[in-house]
Amino acid sequence: MAKIIYRQPDGHEDTVEVPLGWSLMEAAIQNDIKGIVAECGGGCACATCHVYVDDGELSRLPAINDMEGDMLECTATERRPGSRLSCQLKMTEALDGLVVLVPETQV
Ligand code: FES
Repeated sequence: MAKIIYRQPDGHEDTVEVPLGWSLMEAAIQNDIKGIVAECGGGCACATCHVYVDDGELSRLPAINDMEGDMLECTATERRPGSRLSCQLKMTEALDGLVVLVPETQV
């Protein structure tokens, strides 16, 4: 287990203990985190699990693969340097304490 902090646009934060190997999308859905829709169930085909990570934290994350990169062009809110799809981020010890910002909207 390691912790992820989901921050809402209004500043509200939920800290969730996430089993290693789970995606940050799965953890969000299991814990009823507002604003993570995940219409495709983690298939990297909807972009409704979009989150933002602070620029200073990006080196902790695995690289964006081509499929995720393509889907990030389809997000409902603007793509930023820290944009990621939470279904493509698997929990590891290296991500312990990471803050992810949930966008204003996913649709
Ligand atoms: Fe659909 Fe992540 S859940 S792209």
